[in-house]
Amino acid sequence: MVHNLPIDPTLPRAARLQHLLSPLEGLLTGESSGVANLANLAAAIWSATGWHWVGFYLVDKGADNLVLGPFQGPVACTRLHRGKGVCAAAWEAKATQVVPDVHAFPGHVGCSSASLSEVVLPICSPDGEVVAVLDIDSASANDFAPEELASLEALMALVERVWPTWSWS
Ligand code: SME
Repeated sequence: MVHNLPIDPTLPRAARLQHLLSPLEGLLTGESSGVANLANLAAAIWSATGWHWVGFYLVDKGADNLVLGPFQGPVACTRLHRGKGVCAAAWEAKATQVVPDVHAFPGHVGCSSASLSEVVLPICSPDGEVVAVLDIDSASANDFAPEELASLEALMALVERVWPTWSWS
């Protein structure tokens, strides 16, 4: 089992992210607990990048909102509601939201005043329903480069592929 992911601090951040894909594939397919896997994923992205907050919100179908899942970073909002904020926008539009300036995003939900830019990627089940989102906050404005977004998309494609094999009890 992989315990330490090979994160080379001398590499640019985009390359560090790219290098996570292969070891994370082993990690996420070798364990069936969804909670454990999302926790390690958040830790891997957070420790490879130094972004302010990296974590997941899970769709709570019964409550029809998003509930906080595994994350790294400061304490965050527990529930996010439809029609308000970046995570809800990714959930409802089923599309990645890139927000270079959170103060310019109408309805942005500020869980931490240190957050200046944000990206949220939806995670879909095989039938196309959003089951969760990956939310990343940066303490710098406009802090998500296209090649970093491509790596995050690739990581979430991996998560979508293995998600149906995970259990949540
Ligand atoms: N900013 C998010 C809320 C979650 S925190 O950033 C962790 C939003 O607008 O949905």
